[in-house]
Amino acid sequence: MSDNLQAVLYLIASVCFIMALRGLSSPKTARGGNAYGMIGMLLAVSATVFSADVNNYFLIVLGVAVGGAIGTVIAKKIEMTALPQLVAAFHSLVGLAAVCVATSALLSPAAFGIGTVAHIAEASLIEMSIGAAIGAITFTGSLVAFGKLQGLVSGTPLTFSGQHRLNAALGLSLIALTFFFVQSESYAIFALIILVSLLLGFLLILPIGGADMPVIVSMLNSYSGWAAAGIGFTLNNHLLIITGALVGASGAILSYIMCKGMNRSIFNVVLGGFGGGSSANAAADGVAQIDRSYKSGSADDAAYILENAESVIIVPGYGMAVAQAQHALREMTDALKEKGIKVRYAIHPVAGRMPGHMNVLLAEANIPYEDVLELDEINRDFSQTDVAFVIGANDVTNPIAKTDPKSPIYGMPILDVENAKTVLFVKRSMSPGYSGVDNELFYRDNTMMLFGDAKKMCEEIVRAF
Ligand code: TAP
Repeated sequence: MSDNLQAVLYLIASVCFIMALRGLSSPKTARGGNAYGMIGMLLAVSATVFSADVNNYFLIVLGVAVGGAIGTVIAKKIEMTALPQLVAAFHSLVGLAAVCVATSALLSPAAFGIGTVAHIAEASLIEMSIGAAIGAITFTGSLVAFGKLQGLVSGTPLTFSGQHRLNAALGLSLIALTFFFVQSESYAIFALIILVSLLLGFLLILPIGGADMPVIVSMLNSYSGWAAAGIGFTLNNHLLIITGALVGASGAILSYIMCKGMNRSIFNVVLGGFGGGSSANAAADGVAQIDRSYKSGSADDAAYILENAESVIIVPGYGMAVAQAQHALREMTDALKEKGIKVRYAIHPVAGRMPGHMNVLLAEANIPYEDVLELDEINRDFSQTDVAFVIGANDVTNPIAKTDPKSPIYGMPILDVENAKTVLFVKRSMSPGYSGVDNELFYRDNTMMLFGDAKKMCEEIVRAF
């Protein structure tokens, strides 16, 4: 394939990636966005593999076969709730790839067209060290994030005194090492850059608590994009630079949106210390320890209340995802609609464990997009609603976010379900949500707890209808 044709294909692929990001910004256009992404990737890979530079296909075919087989098995097996840790694991590989490419460029510069051994262009040496450093930070940082999300490493923030100073010192030493590396082209200094970066990635993510992990995964996504852009500079590949920059920028924007949804400053997230696991926070909060009375009901009670309502707003959360209750919920809401009851869904920006988590599940159950409304669009309507049906959601409804500045979720915008005439909470126990803070709504007069697995409860309610 000629260089000109490759450049044109790269350009079309870049446009496809931009269209993909645009499509993925809304559930209605997400499928189209995915299709653009796949077409773009097909063009990008074909234009690269069939370029004049490639003369040995054996390793490429082997890599695609082994990697593709592993990827297919993982994609088929993975639970939706485990996607954040899978993404973290994949990011670690992008980081590792950046380190490998930078290292091979240093060892065989002629193959990359950046000079000869001991005579590599200065700009390439700088790109190489930045790419290797970001890649190594992404690698160990993502491994720690994976361990925390998978429960292999404690979700409790691991902090020690002088930690920020140590990180700053390591960051500064990286700048100094890069300077000496560019002067000397020393392999030993390059190895030191990688080692210090590996340590820094580890130390940066270890103090971050479990509740902030999804934001960190999104930030690591952004880092992996910049690492890929770094590889693009080393390989002199424009498509990789564009794609890396797109991933880097979109990951950074997503982290910002998630922080806004939780009212956390990105600075605080990076400095760590929040979300150390339910029990620790619940104990600190103190409320969970107090015995208070609450009302609980059965599926029959819930069916009676729902059937006598004129309007119902469903508030799904993480528990719906765990129970995979979306299809049973759809059956329940269809039955209500048949009775002439107005049913809508209220989606909190950080309900579940990843952005768009609830939208994906509801779309999977073919719930019409027009029934699914964002927090800003529906929050005022709770006061004119008969029943708020909260299914596996907790933190996103907790009014303490509005009243207690000491609470870890203080300032997070919440769905005002308490303004509905009756609030039904479907969950298995009185346990708190992810932030570990007790929900005062459970004890209110207009609340009824429906204890049980979310899917089973919906099925029982449908039977009771
Ligand atoms: P949570 O506050 O975590 O509450 C989920 C509730 O679901 C739990 O109280 C749990 O109670 C219940 N549950 C679990 N399994 C269940 C099952 N099988 N059937 C019925 N109920 C079940 O969830 P949320 O309201 O969606 O809030 C999300 C939280 O995650 C927020 O704190 C948010 O800040 C945090 N977070 C989200 C994101 C994104 S991007 N979505 C990112 C970072 C952090 P039981 O154990 O009693 O059943």
